[in-house]
Order: sequence, then structure tokens, then C-alpha cells
Amino acid sequence: MRILVAGGAGYIGSHTCLVLLEAGHEVIVADNLCNSKEESLRRVQQLTGKPILFYPVDVTEEAAVEKIFQEQHIDGVIHFAGLKAVGESVEQPVRYYYNNVVSTLTLCKVMKRHGVNKFVFSSSATVYGENAIPFVETMQLLPTTNPYGETKVMSERILTDVAAVEPDWSVALLRYFNPIGAHPSGRIGEDPQGIPNNLMPYVTQVASGKRERLRVWGNDYPTVDGTGVRDYIHVMDLAEGHVRALEKLCEEKGVLVYNLGTGHGVSVLQLVHAFEKANDLTIPYDICPRRAGDIAEFYADASKAERELGWKAARTIEDMCRDSWNWQRQNPQGYEV
Ligand SMILES: NC(=O)c1ccc[n+]([C@@H]2O[C@H](COP(=O)([O-])OP(=O)(O)OC[C@H]3O[C@@H](n4cnc5c(N)ncnc54)[C@H](O)[C@@H]3O)[C@@H](O)[C@H]2O)c1
Repeated sequence: MRILVAGGAGYIGSHTCLVLLEAGHEVIVADNLCNSKEESLRRVQQLTGKPILFYPVDVTEEAAVEKIFQEQHIDGVIHFAGLKAVGESVEQPVRYYYNNVVSTLTLCKVMKRHGVNKFVFSSSATVYGENAIPFVETMQLLPTTNPYGETKVMSERILTDVAAVEPDWSVALLRYFNPIGAHPSGRIGEDPQGIPNNLMPYVTQVASGKRERLRVWGNDYPTVDGTGVRDYIHVMDLAEGHVRALEKLCEEKGVLVYNLGTGHGVSVLQLVHAFEKANDLTIPYDICPRRAGDIAEFYADASKAERELGWKAARTIEDMCRDSWNWQRQNPQGYEV
């Protein structure tokens, strides 16, 4: 298939482009590089030996998206092109709502005009709100605590409403848990701008000496060791989940919702210790007060994706820790060469 990957130069997008190319699909990327570098795409092409057609466009701009669809035959769309920093979304709600919701609407509009009807959407476990664990796809969604989460809920709703009136459409809403890790080559990985928002890039930057100490936000949660528990998933497993979901959309119409997680919770300190062990390093850390809005513990019920997609996260926490460090060590400045 020829797949338009919106946001394909980013962290999850670049790994998914690689897996798509390796699975024999053709890839067209639309990305405005607001949180990524074109270098990621150059490296994916190097690793796979296959070309990517790149459009440096903002997918909220209808005319620019229209031009891609006029120039290229497209069979399906994967939409990664979102802003993702939860804290920033609280400070800049208009920017977040505009970017994340209008991008979904614009893609839908242009796809409909061109008869393209397969849509894979990057959703997030954040849509569950503070539900009981494990999170299951059939749960009623609870309010999220920030604009970022709301943009995911809104986009899910938009796509569900579109699919309800377009009988030929098939939509996959993929609810990611916590992606970490990198391609085992160490050539592509997560390249956060500024201070990382997520745990693993922070840990790897402490390991490399770029930051002094890790801050652990709270050790008095009702969890195994008091620190927050998340469901970390290797980005390569996540990328493979997208290809399986896309293949499923060729067989089934309507809206398909899948958790993409491992089904296992790992605490902050468990992850830090696993990282130390896998890489024979020490990560100095301080325990700090809880952060507003953080949930104590969540992880996926990942059984639906296994049952229906035949997909299951295969890589271990050790793999994730080793590959994250391998990427950081080889690219201390990220894609800045
Ligand atoms: N990384 C996570 O922890 C996580 C968890 C759950 C869901 N998600 C979602 O998955 C998607 C991808 O996340 P990621 O971690 O790869 O983030 P990322 O920032 O690395 O990738 C997003 C890409 O989209 C591009 N982009 C953003 N807005 C755009 C626009 N209007 N037009 C064109 N390009 C645009 C950015 O330049 C970037 O390359 C996002 O939608 C994010 O919300 C991520």
C-alpha cells in the first residue's frame, strides 16, 4: 500500500516508516518539522535502502494536504502529527486544540474528497482518565485533566462520527501506553527538544552527563515502591502494531479501538534500576514532591490487540533500556550532526 504518514519524521512516526518500508509498503511523509528533523527520514531511508517521499507541510493547512493527494496515489493515512507535551498544552490550549484537532479534520476532509478511507490515529492511554486498571478498550472514558488529553478524545470522537456515516471507512484508534526505546541500530530514536518531558529521555541524558540528576516525582503513591507505575512499550513493538492495524483495516470496516501496551506495569524506580543493570551505569536521582495531574498507576489490558491483530509486544524492559541508551550514546546531540 502507499501510506501517507503525517508526522512521520517524529519519534514514533520514523520507526513506523521504517517498519512500513520493511513490510513492503511505500511511504509518503507530511511533517512540518515543528518537533523533529528531516535527518530522521534520511536515516530511515539509509537503514531500509528504500525511498521516502517527503512533503514539508503543516497538515492543518488544507491546500497543502490537498496538493499531496493530487500528486500522489494514497491508500491510507497514519496520523502522528500532534503536539504532545501535556504541561505545555495547559499553558497553550489554543495552539494544542488547533493543531491536534484541525489536523484530524483536515486529513478527513481531504481523504473524503479523494476517496481514501483507511485512517490510523495516534491516540493515547490518557483518554481513559483516572479509570480502574488495567485500562480496557470498552471502558467509558473519564475526563482527562489537560487540553492534550482532550484533543485525543475529540479526535477519536470525530473519527468515530465520520466512520458512522461513511460505510467504506475503516478507522483504527490506537491508544498508546508509554513508548520508549529506539531502533536497535541506534540510528533513529527519540530526540526531544529542550528538557525532556518523559522519563526515559531524561534518564539517558543523566546517563550521558547532559543532566546532573533525575527527578522522581513522588514516592508516596500506593504502588509497589511508592513511585508512579506505567506500561512502557518498545517503540519498535509499537511501530509493528501500526502495520498490523493497517492490514486489519483492509479486512474490516468501521472503528477499531486497540490498546498498544505490554499489559505490565513498571515503576519509575524499577525502570531506573533496570536501566542501570542493562547498561552497567548509575543514575543519581532525587525524590521530589508529586506532580499535579499525575496518576499513580496505569497499564493496559493488551489482550484485544493480541486476539484481533495477532500482535503482542515482544521486547523486554531490558531491550528498551539497552536500545534507548544505545541511541543516546551514539547521538548525544540527537539528530543535530
Ligand atoms: N510519545 C508518547 O509518549 C506518546 C504517547 C501517546 C500518544 N502519542 C501520540 O503519538 C503521536 C506521535 O508522537 P511522537 O512521540 O512520535 O511525537 P513527535 O513530536 O516526535 O512526532 C510528532 C511529529 O508530528 C509533527 N507535527 C506536529 N504537528 C504537525 C502539523 N500540524 N503538521 C505536520 N507535522 C506536524 C512534528 O514535527 C513531529 O515530527 C502524537 O500524536 C502523540 O500525541 C505519543
